Amino acid sequence: MRSSRVIPGSPALVLLPLLLLAAGCTDAYKPVIIVHGIFDGPRELAGLSGFIEESHPGTEVILIDLLNYKLSIAPMWKQVNEFGKVIKSIMQRSPEGVHLLCFSQGGLVCRGVLSLIPNHNVHTFISLSSPLAGQFGDTEYVNRLFPDCAKTKVHLFCYNKWGQKLSICDYWKDPHYTSAYLRNNLFLPLLNGEKENSYMTEWKENFLRIKKLVLIGGPDDGVITPWQSSHFAFYDSEENVVEMRNQEFYVKDTFGLRTLDARGDLSVCVQSGVKHVEWHSNFTVFTSCMVEWLV
Ligand SMILES: *[C@@H]1O[C@H](CO)[C@@H](O)[C@H](O)[C@H]1NC(C)=O
Repeated sequence: MRSSRVIPGSPALVLLPLLLLAAGCTDAYKPVIIVHGIFDGPRELAGLSGFIEESHPGTEVILIDLLNYKLSIAPMWKQVNEFGKVIKSIMQRSPEGVHLLCFSQGGLVCRGVLSLIPNHNVHTFISLSSPLAGQFGDTEYVNRLFPDCAKTKVHLFCYNKWGQKLSICDYWKDPHYTSAYLRNNLFLPLLNGEKENSYMTEWKENFLRIKKLVLIGGPDDGVITPWQSSHFAFYDSEENVVEMRNQEFYVKDTFGLRTLDARGDLSVCVQSGVKHVEWHSNFTVFTSCMVEWLV
C-alpha cells in the first residue's frame, strides 16, 4: 500500500486507502510472467520488463529462463510441459493472480499452458505477434531451419513424426495440404480444436479462466505469415486471408475464442511499422496495447 499523506480537513481522503483496502482493492500490481519466442531468450525481452517496471513501479516481472536460443526449437508439447511447470510454481506463490505476456512462438506455448493447467490464475494473457492460427511463409526464421526450401515444400518435411519434433513444424499450416496438416500435425490442430479430441471440453474450460485476451500484431511484422495469424486469421486454400470471426474454430467455439469475444474480453491491437523483433522493445506498442491490462 502507498503511504497516504494526511491532509487536514479532508477526512474522506484519509479514509480512502482504508475503504479501498476493505473493498479488496489494494494497489499492488499483479506479477507479470514473460515467455520468449523462437531463437531468443529472456535477455532479448528485457526491454519489456523495463517498460513494465517504469510504468508500474513495484511490479514483479519474471522472464522465464528456459529453452532459450537453439533449445527453442524443441517440440511444442515438451515446451508446454516445461514452461507449464515453471508458470505453475509462480502462480502458486501468487494467489492474487498473474499476467502472462508471451512473444511469438511463446504465445502458442502459453496457450498450451492455459489449456492444460486447471485452476490457473492468469488474469490477462497478452499474445505479442504470435502465429496463433499457424505459419505459412518462407521468412528468415523458416529459412534458418530449412535452407533453400520454398514454403511449398516445407510440408514434406514437417508433416510426419520426425518433422513434428521441431517446434515450427508443430504450427506449420500449409493451406494446400489441410488433410496432411490435420492428420500429422500433433500440436496446432489439437490446440485450436480443428481436430476433434477428448480433451477439448476440459482445455476450453481451463483456457476460459483468463479474464482478458489481448492480441497484438501488425502488417510490417515480416516473420509471422500471414501477419493476421497474430489475430487468429489465416489463409484459405487460395491464400486469401479469412478473418478470425469466419474461422471454423471461432464459429464452432472449439477452444473458447467466440465466448471470450462475446464476453467482451477480447482486445485486438494492430500496429503498423513494427518489425517482428521490435515488438518487445517499442514503447509506443507497450503504451498503446499492453500497459492498461497489466494492473
Ligand atoms: C514503434 O511502434 C510504432 C507503432 O506503434 C511504429 O510507428 C514505429 O515505427 C515503431 N518503431 C520502431 C523502431 O519499431
